[in-house]
Formats: sequence, C-alpha cells, structure tokens
Amino acid sequence: MKLLRMEKLRQFTLLALSFLLMKGALAAPDSAYLFAYTKVQNEGKTGLMFAWSNNQETWHEIGKDFGFVKSDYGQWGSEKRMFAPVLFRESNGLWHCIWKLNKVDQALAYTYSKDLLSWYPQTYVVNENDLKVLTPERIKQESSKLQQVQIQNEKQTGTISRVPWGFIERLIEKVNLTNYNNQLWYETTKEDPIRFASLKPIDVTIVPDFGKKKKISDMLIGVFFEDINYGADGGLYGELIQNRGFEYQASDVQNRDKTWNEKKAWTTRGDGIDFSIQSSNPIHPNNKNYAQLSMSQPGGVFINEGFDGIAIVAGEKYDCSFFAQHSEKRRGDILIKLTNDKGDMLASSKVNLTHSDWKKYNLILLAKQSAKDARLEIIPQFSGTLALDMISLFPQRTFKNRKNGLRADLAQVIADLHPRFIRFPGGCVAHGDGIENIYHWKNTVGPVETRKPQRNMWNYHQTAGLGYFEYFQFCEDIGAAPLPVVAAGVPCQNSAKHGHPLGGQQCGIPMEKMNDYVQDVLDLIEWANGDAKSKWGSVRAAAGHPKPFGLKYIGIGNEDLISDVFTERFTLIYHAVKAKYPDIIIIGTVGPFFEGSDYKRGWELASQLSVPMVDEHYYVPPGWMIYNQDYYDKYDRSKSQVYLGEYAAHLPGRPNNLETALAEAIHLTNLERNADIVHMSSYAPLLAKEGHTQWSPDLIFFDNTTVTPTTGYYVQQLFGRNAGDEYITANFNSTINDDKVRKRIAYSIVRDSETKDIIIKMVNMLPVGVNVSLDLKEITFNNPRIEKFVLSGKPDEKNLKPVTSDSSVQELEKIGLKPYSFTLFRVSQ
Ligand code: AHR
Repeated sequence: MKLLRMEKLRQFTLLALSFLLMKGALAAPDSAYLFAYTKVQNEGKTGLMFAWSNNQETWHEIGKDFGFVKSDYGQWGSEKRMFAPVLFRESNGLWHCIWKLNKVDQALAYTYSKDLLSWYPQTYVVNENDLKVLTPERIKQESSKLQQVQIQNEKQTGTISRVPWGFIERLIEKVNLTNYNNQLWYETTKEDPIRFASLKPIDVTIVPDFGKKKKISDMLIGVFFEDINYGADGGLYGELIQNRGFEYQASDVQNRDKTWNEKKAWTTRGDGIDFSIQSSNPIHPNNKNYAQLSMSQPGGVFINEGFDGIAIVAGEKYDCSFFAQHSEKRRGDILIKLTNDKGDMLASSKVNLTHSDWKKYNLILLAKQSAKDARLEIIPQFSGTLALDMISLFPQRTFKNRKNGLRADLAQVIADLHPRFIRFPGGCVAHGDGIENIYHWKNTVGPVETRKPQRNMWNYHQTAGLGYFEYFQFCEDIGAAPLPVVAAGVPCQNSAKHGHPLGGQQCGIPMEKMNDYVQDVLDLIEWANGDAKSKWGSVRAAAGHPKPFGLKYIGIGNEDLISDVFTERFTLIYHAVKAKYPDIIIIGTVGPFFEGSDYKRGWELASQLSVPMVDEHYYVPPGWMIYNQDYYDKYDRSKSQVYLGEYAAHLPGRPNNLETALAEAIHLTNLERNADIVHMSSYAPLLAKEGHTQWSPDLIFFDNTTVTPTTGYYVQQLFGRNAGDEYITANFNSTINDDKVRKRIAYSIVRDSETKDIIIKMVNMLPVGVNVSLDLKEITFNNPRIEKFVLSGKPDEKNLKPVTSDSSVQELEKIGLKPYSFTLFRVSQ
C-alpha cells in the first residue's frame, strides 16, 4: 500500500513538473530562484510560503496557500501570525528564518532547518541581542534584503535565494504528499454512498495463531481528566455552591464578562440587606476574600444560585457549612434554606453563631422535594454585620460517600469505563496560561479553605476543591493508577502574554527558581508514597490517608514546544526525579501532533535521555485513523514506550458520533496490536457540561441532573472492560484489493492470561456487511460462555449504546458484521 501511495505521489509530482515544463517555466532544472514570503492578504496566518522562478520575473507559488512553517507564537487562533519572513542560508548549508510576530508584540521569531522541510522548534525574543545564533548586525543585514515580487498579480514581500533544483522538487513533493494525504484523511462517511456505490457484502477469513502470542500492556485504557468544560467545579467535584469563597476574578474570564467578579452567583433579597467583598482579615492568606453582609434589620436573604441552579433529590441529606465572623460579638441564629424558583421551601435548618471570630459551622439539610434549580438562602436572624466565607453545600451521597467528594453519578460513569489509570489535572491546565498560571499541586491539598484558587486557563475559575488528594483518592476508589502530570517548568505554548514581554510560552520558570520547582516535584512523590512520618507523607496522612498511594507514574510536561527553554528545565526535573526515585516511571512529552518539529525533537530528547515513556497527543480526522493503521507497527521497540495521552477523531463540526467512535475503535485495535510499545492511552477530553463547553468532542456530556455518555464512550468502555495482556496474531485473508475497503475493516484478538478469556474485536466501517469466517480449530471449547456486544447504526448517530447478547461457537465461526459496526466477543470457559 505504502509503495502504491509513493508511486501515485511520484506520478502526481511528475505530472505537475511536466505541466510546468510544457509551459516553458522549467528552463533551468539544475537550479532556480526561491522566494520565501508570507501572504499579506492572509494576514500572516498561512506562515512561510515559497514560490520559485527561473528568471525572477514569473513566479510559481509552491502549493496553494501552503504554509511550510507556521508561527507558533501567542494564543490559539488569532495571535499566531508571521510577518516579513527573512530566509537565508549559511555557508554550512543551514537555513535560518526570522520573522516578525503579531502586530502588537514587537518581537522576533527564529527557526532553522537543514532542508526547508523539517524545522526546529521556534525561538522568540524581544531584544535581537538575545538571539544567540545571529548577531543584530547579521539580522539587520539579512533583513535589508527583503524585497517585493509579484505573484499572480499580488505583491508579496520576502527574500530570494538561489537553490539547486532539488530543493524546489522536494518542496513540491511535500505539497503533493500533504495534499494526497489530506484527500485520504479527510474522507468521511458522507461520501460513502458514492465511494462504495457498487460495493457488495464482503467475505473475509481470520485465522488466529494461538501459538503466536505477544505480551502486551495491561494498562492500555485509561482516562484523561482535565478541568475543561466545567469538568471539575460545577462538574465532577460535588460542591453545589458556585463561588463559595468569593474568589472569582474578572481576570478569570479575561475581563470579557461584566457579571464575572467576586460577587458572581450571589445576590440579596429583601429590605436592609447588602453585601460587599472584604479581604482585611481572611480565614487564610490563600483565600483572601469574604463577603460582608450589612443588615439594618433581620430577615434579609443572601442567595447563591449554584452552577445553573442547585439540583437536589427528595429524601437526600446535604452537608452545609460556612465560616462566619460576627464583628459585633453578638450571638444569633442564621436560617439556611433551599428553595425552588417559586420560593417554596425545600429544606431548612438553623445554626446558632457561637463565636465572634472566624469559625466553621456545619448543618444538615434534608430535601423534602426534588428540584433541578434550587438555590441556597442564608437568612441572618439579626441586624448588624456578618462576614461569611467558604459557604458550601455537598450531597452526603457523594461517590463512595467521601467528604469533599465527587458527584456520584459522574464518578460512577468514569469508573464504569474500568480505566487502568487516571491522568490529571490536564492537559493545558497542568502547565497553565503563563508562568503564574502553572498548576502547583501544593496549592491543592490540605483543608479546602487553605487551598489557593486560580484562574482556569479555559476561562473560568478553579477552586482547587478537587485537588491532588481527591484525584488520588478517586484513583484508589476505582482501582486506577494515578498519573499526575506536572509542568516541565514552562507554561502552555499557547499562553497569552500575562505580563511577560514575550507571552507565556516563550518563558520558563527563571532558572534561579527552578531548584524550588524541582523540589516541589520531588515533594509530590514523597507526599504520594512517603511514610506517614515523612515531611510530605505526614500531610497526606493528616488528610486521612496514612497509607501511601503507591504512585508509579509521573508525567513531566504537556505537549510543550521543545524549545531550549523547555529542554533545559525538563532535563533538570528528569534527572532529579530519576536520581531520587529510580522506580518512578517518568513520562516525557513530544508535542501536540503526530509529526512536526516538537514531535521530532521531543523524541530525539527522549532517546538522548533514555526517558522510559513519552506522551503523544493527536486529534485527527477519522481518515487518519483509517489510513495510518501501521503507525505504531513502524516504531522502534528499543526506544521509549508510548503513552497516547490525548487523542480523538475529529470530524467537521466536531461531533462525537458513530463515525468518530468507529474510527477510534479501529485505532484502538491497532493500539492493542502495538501494546508491547504503546503502554497506555486516554481519549481526551473526558467531561463536558452542557452549555459550558470550550472543547468538543468529549466523551461524557452532563448537566446538573443527567449524564450522557457518547457513542465513543462505549467504545472506550468495551476496550476497557475487555482488555487482555496477550495479543494473538492472526492472518487476515480476503479477496479485497481496494485499499479504501480493506482499511475499513479492523480486528484484534487478545487474551487475558489470568481468566484465560479470549476477546475478539472487529470493526466494520463500511456501508455493507462483512462475513467473517473465524478459524477456531486451535481452540478446544468446553461449554464456553460467549458474550457478544454490537455497536452499530448510522454513521452520524449520537449516543448509541452497544447491544449485548449471548452467543455460540457456531456464530463465532461465522460472524456477520453489520454495516458501520463494532462487534466484540468475549469467550470465557
Ligand atoms: O484536551 C484538550 C486540550 O487539548 C488539552 O488541554 C491540551 O493538552 C490539548 O491541546
């Protein structure tokens, strides 16, 4: 197939060249002029483009709007621009490229390449003196060579170099290969009625060779949890009060929402009551704000609206707590109620203030009625002033009834995936939007009122109520290994500026502060695994978990730009963890794509340092998964293992439907076959709250009362619950000679060495049925139990569920795969 593709590509390239030759454009095939520019008309978004000419008069664009290097500076989207690129070549053959960044930031970007195809990670500086590879004089000299040329009636600014024709040829080849791949990768089922108009049901034979087993990872399916889409606060975290600590800041939402401030979600009702936000005498320095109520008469009401209302269930008990400070030293009662939108009282209780200084009060509310959108009402029965903070309401029935626990139904749906590990706290949340926003685990442990809330980089607020203790506890509760990911001393490569002259991504934690940061990482491992008497182990023990958590894995970095700044810091953390905790499996990072400069340099760094495992990320169209089934077959088994930490099939419009789910199922069969090198994988992101979604598709959608797993969820679940630790090699025979058809059928056979169960998974992404003859001669059946799970439907259907039934040996020998289906058999004897 590969050969066929290469041949098609070669033919396409030749065709393009002969067309140019015919037009008389290719007069000097030994060398040509190469013009490097960026299209002003595209406002610098296309990145570095090329055109060639043999006379410097007629220029031929290489690829239509084809960017060979995209500027990676600034936030996603609008900020990633390239202006006035200057390309030049050293006598040693190395190409340098410098360019100006977006119009606001007067900074310079730099990258280099040996062949104009593969580029090194970009560097950004404010001051030209800081660009160590080129002197300011050289930059000036080369920049003075910028000139304008006319390409297809449009003026473009750039630099001209004379290059051997081979360079032009390779650039054209790259464009053609990309276009060719894109044609395949962007195939969708919408065109299937035409693509497969004459396709008839297909017969195939699968012959497993039970003698040919290979050991595979038993950790393959896990989950990726990030506080994105209200995944934590207002989501998995059981807290029902929004902005309980009055710590919301306008900057959480980049000042884009006038209603988003310290008072968010709080109002008053009634005469003579008002509230202000104070910070002169906080409960804890990390929790600086509190509400000060002023009441000229009793009876005024202080109200919290929850996260889109508060959902309560009749008969359930709710733990309510708050800190109060009563400056006038008077004692009095506070009435607490839950009411519905009509004002009906659903639950109520009273508490008597006993202290004038800050004190925590607890009470229980029993819900008389269910409501989706209740609110909490606080009614002081006295006049004067009253300071309140950390006003909290939790269902008693959290997951495993834990205090400060998780929303039971959501946690259960995650547990039902049977994940072998949970990665947390992200994603981008782990490395944050600028240095100040890096997630520091120490801010998230200890009593909740001492934790340090911060802006969530997905533009909302993070209370840190769901913190490291809760993550580890959840892992333990569901038998999953904890996989914390810490920043590699650098923030997200898509960071906004946030005060730093060069924006977040280009700066790392200053080297003089890195020792403290490295110590934080080491302390995390002590906190998780240390003896209860150790410094950090005792903090864990004080939180109620004297036994070590048994941490085995730690991720350092999240799809970072593999810049010098990153490399220096990653290496420091890596060596320190390795030296102190040689048994901990360190997971490095190789950028946000399945290819490209960060992927390449990340892998180089991992190999150089012998990092045990690397975290790969890619969000790709379904076609990528269909046509890259051999992606990991080609991996060098002597290098680092792979943790595919983030992946999903993305269709236009970003749905999660049967089409994306089947593509992911295809990919998972290939991961299983390669699970000798792919140790772990996690679909991303996991959770999304309806109406608060920054990213889609996601695996599980929810609102305050319902949880809706997607079709993709059931694929993950079927793989998670039916994993094996041995892969059975099989021969696949068919008369199909069309790659488009063949690639849409995938399978894997695994065995669980403990239960001896055999699991057969098959995906049919075709609009016709597939009849599989499964050759089972090698198995002696002894009254087996065979369960069958089928997920099928129309490709654009969402929220499909697998149908489960009992099956037989006869059916197993002659399996009919439905059109667009994923079928799984589990054979237990
Ligand atoms: O999964 C959503 C985001 O995708 C993650 O936060 C980030 O790592 C990736 O870009």
